Amino acid sequence: MVDKEKIKMKRVYISDIIKAGEKISKQNEHIVIKGWLYNKRHKGKLYFLQVRDGTGIIQCVLFKDDVSEDVFSLADHLTQESSIEVYGKLREDKRSAIGYEISIDDIKLVSLAKDYPITPKDHGVAFLMDHRHLWLRSIKQNAILSVRNVLIKAIRHYFDSNDFTLIDAPIFTPSACEGTTNLFEVNYFNEKAYLTQSGQLYMEAAAKAFGKVYCFGPTFRAEKSKTRRHLTEFWMVEPEVAFNRLEENVDLAEDFLVFIVQEVLDKCRKEFQILERDTSILENVKKPFPRLHYEDCVKKLNDLNQPFESGNDFGAEDETVLTKQFDKPIIVTHFPAKVKAFYMKKDELQPEYALCVDVLAPEGYGEIIGGGEREDDYNTLIESINKHNLSAEHFNWYLDLRKYGSTHSAGFGLGIERCLAWLCGIPHVRETIPFPRMLERLSP
Ligand code: 4AD
Repeated sequence: MVDKEKIKMKRVYISDIIKAGEKISKQNEHIVIKGWLYNKRHKGKLYFLQVRDGTGIIQCVLFKDDVSEDVFSLADHLTQESSIEVYGKLREDKRSAIGYEISIDDIKLVSLAKDYPITPKDHGVAFLMDHRHLWLRSIKQNAILSVRNVLIKAIRHYFDSNDFTLIDAPIFTPSACEGTTNLFEVNYFNEKAYLTQSGQLYMEAAAKAFGKVYCFGPTFRAEKSKTRRHLTEFWMVEPEVAFNRLEENVDLAEDFLVFIVQEVLDKCRKEFQILERDTSILENVKKPFPRLHYEDCVKKLNDLNQPFESGNDFGAEDETVLTKQFDKPIIVTHFPAKVKAFYMKKDELQPEYALCVDVLAPEGYGEIIGGGEREDDYNTLIESINKHNLSAEHFNWYLDLRKYGSTHSAGFGLGIERCLAWLCGIPHVRETIPFPRMLERLSP
């Protein structure tokens, strides 16, 4: 075939074939798929090439009598992950996972890959993480990050369709929001600054300007321990609503979670199949979620012989034990104020407890949402800032919100990676973000 004719040929994505294979095959036109060789089998006069283009995988069948000698020998030399253009016609094949395959009439080699390091054999996680830039091409990683894409769209859709305004929070901040132990410090023109741990304080300001707001962006915490739930850079979505109290905040978190889980379930059947995810527990994410006071959880833990003393924050193991008792996410409120951040409003009747909420995912996944009602009284907030040894000077702007039209205000943060790990049934958050940053990982 002359190159000019090839250029005119219709480029088709595998996702187009998944969506409209019947129409494309009936047109009986020559098409081209541009992608990479995923796998190859050879049997006599036939080559079966598994080609991926990022939107899916399709089997392309090459029959010796249909192509030139050069093309047949090219098929022989093609290596895993070589980039190619495959020309041919689409035809129905009931045995194929997507219902169609391509009969090849030509192949153009774009670039031959030599010794692709990730072979079909098993590799250790450290090796795969070192090759994350290549590992992203594997079917499973593609499925996880495709679910991430759908999850993020669902999150935005929820807030957009409920009249929240998206307000972007800054990344450089002058002060801590979530405690001073895990701050990343940066030199900001000879002044100390920190990478943001949460956009919440800015959302409180924005909620007083727009009513219902949310931010969505990367957040940073210098987590010095290696766990399966902690990244040093993770993405968080944070809604904040002026005048909301704890109860309304809990209702919002519940409604939001039900919506995003349902959206992901509806749109990611194919991905969940690839991940061999048993989705029955996700189907069960319906209102109402069990709501527990912190002290109910303490009692439950002790009844389950999990040693736990009231007054402490839950550790990962405590959350795992607790959530395994339920087949839905659970809502825990009223943690001891002393284990929570400076901005938390305290319960008026029992001031040792904060008006906070954590949502814990089932199957042992633990906390995916954290939030609460904010202290709205100027003097109490100053006292709390001082008690937490924070520099009041950096919070003058935040205190202004209590001087000029102070209101109740509540919101929460959902960590995308923890939520996605649960949705996909992945044990570690490192696979739920394209390029994870952890205690011992800054590369690639
Ligand atoms: O509970 P956190 O610390 O809450 C806040 O940051 C509030 N200021 C949010 C708000 O009210 N607007 O964090 C919220 C969520 C957690 O539930 C978890 O899902 C996630 O952020 N998260 C992490 N995810 C990955 N790695 C880490 N190191 C995380 N730390 C928190």
